[in-house]
Amino acid sequence: MEAIAIDRSPRRLGQSSLHAFPIAYGCWRLAGSDVAAAGRKIEAALEVGIDLFDHADIYGGAGAAEELFGKALAATPEWRQRMLIATKCGIIPGVPYDSSRAHILGSAENSLRRLQTDVIDLFQIHRPDLLAHPAEVAGALVTLREQGKIREVGVSNFTPAKFAALQAHLPFPIATNQPELSPWFLDPFVDGTLDQCMQLEVTPLAWSPMAGGRLGLSQDDARAEADGERLAATIAILDELALREGVDRAAVVLAFLLAHPAGVIPIVGTQREPRIRGSVRALDVQLSRIDWYAIFQAALGAPLP
Ligand SMILES: NC(=O)c1ccc[n+]([C@@H]2O[C@H](COP(=O)([O-])OP(=O)(O)OC[C@H]3O[C@@H](n4cnc5c(N)ncnc54)[C@H](OP(=O)(O)O)[C@@H]3O)[C@@H](O)[C@H]2O)c1
Repeated sequence: MEAIAIDRSPRRLGQSSLHAFPIAYGCWRLAGSDVAAAGRKIEAALEVGIDLFDHADIYGGAGAAEELFGKALAATPEWRQRMLIATKCGIIPGVPYDSSRAHILGSAENSLRRLQTDVIDLFQIHRPDLLAHPAEVAGALVTLREQGKIREVGVSNFTPAKFAALQAHLPFPIATNQPELSPWFLDPFVDGTLDQCMQLEVTPLAWSPMAGGRLGLSQDDARAEADGERLAATIAILDELALREGVDRAAVVLAFLLAHPAGVIPIVGTQREPRIRGSVRALDVQLSRIDWYAIFQAALGAPLP
């Protein structure tokens, strides 16, 4: 059976003028490394073509990941023109959400300072704040855009209804939605999230494509997890395909996401340079429809009707 074509060309972020490599690098786990080590990870990503770096104000706790990244960038300023910087605001541990106008404006200022840049390419609302009217959120985003502090707007963990409510108050299209999405977390494939992305030309960014490491486990360790038999069965099919394709398991995981017609950009989270570099092997993986649905059904734990 014919392989599902994976488009290797840069993926447009929604209807915006921004384009990104089909795989992005996530900076959630970056804090903790020293500036030189962080720089090596950024460099490894840039070397293989990865150019979208995903942050949030809370990563590393109190902006530590953004700060580390900003210092690495200050040491090699020429990287800035080769990359798109995405960050997020709106989660405050202990609250837990605040997307009021004042918080959005203040958070963007703080991120700009920590990242040592004068513009955020993609500014995302991290999670919906149930107490913020979408008109207030939209107003703050419009202000930031008019001030030239952000280029494009995205959301994360927004249901299609919450996405539509915010979009209705914005004078420009939201470029991205960032749901959790992996061969282990299938909901956005069927709950309308990816359908809405295709309907409105919104680019999905997939967080935790390796299910936060669960898809990297050995068979034995997988069995010890919740839903362990189902996880082990999913890993078994991923490994079978990886062996056939001559790549590692992570490449098959990423290929599964890249092959979806919504034009998903998976955000890899590994801290190991060889794995960062190796992630681009996913673009060479040839999955047929049978392969893709075999992964899906193993993760679902049931055959599709
Ligand atoms: N919007 C949101 O709410 C949200 C939430 C979570 C994450 N995110 C974004 O998504 C990004 C990625 O999330 P994530 O870090 O959870 O991604 P992930 O790629 O699913 O998980 C990364 C973890 O898996 C391990 N791993 C990766 N490849 C592996 C492999 N081949 N074999 C074994 N273990 C492997 C890594 O360990 P090693 O480092 O040892 O390789 C790391 O601990 C974040 O950085 C952030 O930008 C967004």
